Amino acid sequence: MFEFLVFGLISLSMTEGHHEVQEVFAESNSKVVLPCVCNTSSRVIIWRKDNQGTVWRQEKSGMQFWGSRWLQNGDRRVRCPYSRFERGDCSLHISNIREDDGGVFECRFISGGQSMTRSVMLRVIKVSVSSAAPVAGIEFSVHCGVTPEPVGASVQWRLNNSTFVSPSGENLKTAQWTIEETASVTLTGEWTCVVAHQGFEGRASASLTVKGIIHPPRDDARVYAAVGCAATLPCVFSPGSIPSKPSWRKLHPGSSTKPGRLPSSFSFSSPASKPAWDQSARVEDVGLEDEGRYTCAGVVGGQSLSRRMQLVIAKIDRGVSWMKMVTLTCQLTDTSEVMRYEWVHVTYDPSGTRLVKSIQEGKTLYMGKVNVEDVGEWVCRFHGKEGLLGNVTHRIAPQNGHLTGSTSSLYNTSFVLSLSVLLVLLVLILVQLYKKHQRRKKIFQFSALETILHVKVNERDKREESQVKK
Ligand SMILES: *[C@@H]1O[C@H](CO)[C@@H](O)[C@H](O)[C@H]1NC(C)=O
Repeated sequence: MFEFLVFGLISLSMTEGHHEVQEVFAESNSKVVLPCVCNTSSRVIIWRKDNQGTVWRQEKSGMQFWGSRWLQNGDRRVRCPYSRFERGDCSLHISNIREDDGGVFECRFISGGQSMTRSVMLRVIKVSVSSAAPVAGIEFSVHCGVTPEPVGASVQWRLNNSTFVSPSGENLKTAQWTIEETASVTLTGEWTCVVAHQGFEGRASASLTVKGIIHPPRDDARVYAAVGCAATLPCVFSPGSIPSKPSWRKLHPGSSTKPGRLPSSFSFSSPASKPAWDQSARVEDVGLEDEGRYTCAGVVGGQSLSRRMQLVIAKIDRGVSWMKMVTLTCQLTDTSEVMRYEWVHVTYDPSGTRLVKSIQEGKTLYMGKVNVEDVGEWVCRFHGKEGLLGNVTHRIAPQNGHLTGSTSSLYNTSFVLSLSVLLVLLVLILVQLYKKHQRRKKIFQFSALETILHVKVNERDKREESQVKK
């Protein structure tokens, strides 16, 4: 009441100065500075709010007063650092902003015998979520509220600092004050709403943690493993979400429902070293037949959750050509994610230090003739769009100078085999030729006989002729 009287007196004794409204956005529960440039020689400064009276004021004597609303449990939510007055700064600092703090504030001071007023519109932004930790599969909403609500403002949503794209593909949704989605672990994080109004911009955030299987974050993720090695099939629930009835199953190849058989070396009971929300499984000795689709499942908060993934097996095929040329080919049971292959040669120097040398790009490595320098590990690394996917190793061991032992025996076997085939063919051809030759000879004999007969007949004719003449 007293404050009001004082204010009334001051405002009556001064004439109104320039009036202009500036907008300031602030997130609820944060701090804000409401600007006021004041060229005043007088110590009299008043900050007030529409319909709420004095916020803070200072009298000629230097005494300061606070409006009761701004004294929270004896804690002053507003202050106006007077050390700055001389520099013409009469800004009001507000902490722990509440939604109902929004509105028009006025800063009044005396300059050159005139009462001056500066107005600031404070808009408080608050993001609220329907549930801070929904379980995947459940509907939830995020709302962006601004007090007082600006007319013709635009809103934009960001999730973890990237423009939010609705998984349902409706881009229109991102320009709404309320977002409604089905919870999935990919929607976990910091939701920020960015409000723009008449050239001013403000933002506020709220965090959301969706309970579910966080790793892999999506269905149909690919897990890479090399033949003969151990593989881990990940299935990690969000920290603290301990699933009941955890299970794993493999789908029959080519079917999306028919169960298949889990590999013989498959294990998934979580050891004491792993938290109970990590239900990852392990395959000790991966074989080509273990390739395919796997599903892990569990119940969290009454909601059945599952994650499907694809185990992709990598192996290296070694080929040997006629000239003892060795080729290594990187083979994967699914190549849909692979963008490029890289071959590296790994050797160890006498001190055991690992030396890695990149050899070439491409699926197939043409090694030529294998020699001593080629001893070591030949690793095929396969890369996807987002980096390395995995690797598979082929070892070439030193064999007492007989590096290519297996190779040459393979080479010899095939050589001998081909040679024998050739020989058999040759013999067959010769036999055929001989047979033909024999047949020809008989024909010649017959024709010789014919000649003899012919000659004999002729002789007989001649003789008869001569007898007739005699
Ligand atoms: C192959 O992958 C394993 C496990 O991911 C890694 O430890 C190893 O360094 C990789 N080898 C090469 C040569 O990249």
